Amino acid sequence: MITYFMETISKNKVYVTRKIPEPGPSILKKYFQINMNPKADILDRDTLLENVKNVDALICMLGDNVDSNVMDAAGPNLKIISCYSVGHDHVDIYEATKRKIIVTNTPNVLANTTADLTFSLILSAARNIVNADRHVRIGNWESGWSPDLFLGYDVYGSTLGIIGLGEIGTLVARRAKGFDMKVLYYSKNRKYEIESELDITYVPLEELLQRSDFVSIHVSLNRDTLHLIDESKIKLMKKTAFIINTSRGKVINEQDLISALKNKLIAGVGLDVYENEPISKSNPLTQMSQTTLLPHIGSATFMTRSRMAEVAANNVVNFFNGKGILHKVN
Ligand code: GLV
Ligand code: GLV
Repeated sequence: MITYFMETISKNKVYVTRKIPEPGPSILKKYFQINMNPKADILDRDTLLENVKNVDALICMLGDNVDSNVMDAAGPNLKIISCYSVGHDHVDIYEATKRKIIVTNTPNVLANTTADLTFSLILSAARNIVNADRHVRIGNWESGWSPDLFLGYDVYGSTLGIIGLGEIGTLVARRAKGFDMKVLYYSKNRKYEIESELDITYVPLEELLQRSDFVSIHVSLNRDTLHLIDESKIKLMKKTAFIINTSRGKVINEQDLISALKNKLIAGVGLDVYENEPISKSNPLTQMSQTTLLPHIGSATFMTRSRMAEVAANNVVNFFNGKGILHKVN
């Protein structure tokens, strides 16, 4: 029975668009014919279209743009697209669903790591960490210390506004309590249990923007959250407030954000995500001193990336061995 079963599933072909860490490849090799891009870099489009031919499963990630062309190139065998990420906006979910292709992601395992990075952006933005580091490195400190050198804003005791109280938003709230912050949140659905456990307060979005010193975004990107933060919303914020975004760039209208920073409507931003990634050196955000900018590294720790590879691989294994589909997003 078991032998028969293993033979059945081992015929399935899996393509992994970029090198993922162990234990992902070992798990997949046990059950499938696996072909993995040996490099972690993004594939050019033609190679991607060629390599997905006739696969039964695809493991893909940020930047891959898995649209109808990729699904057509794979052909009718493709049954599951397993994202090596929690966000899945790089997959055309509508097209996948139309073709009865299951799409999965890697929730849970990266939430604490991303909440840590969110906090590092809050602290870096408030205290000029990156600008100050640069100042020391290029020798400017040699001109001496002064009492107004890199004045910033207190994080402790300030008000944090969390937009989207999902897994990551909740873990950011938990950390904020350690900094004696007052925590407000806005979410599509009120989360009464978390409110009382963490002593945080639900407010409408407009009020959150008016009252917060740090506004941190933790919603997923969808029709309702596209450009949720635009000029009209930024105008509600305090001039001394910061926006932190570790979710998806398109939740903010980036042109509006750039004008707001130029016009000093807010004090600054800490960003890990952008409307179009990667951003180029000519993006005005890179020329401003009020911006702390990271290259989309929210989940980038050795431990978490291994756990994500394990979950992404097991999502494919569980699908084919009939154990039930976990982490399905469509
Ligand atoms: C990264 O942004 C992810 O969605 O996992
Ligand atoms: C969660 O992030 C929500 O908006 O309910």
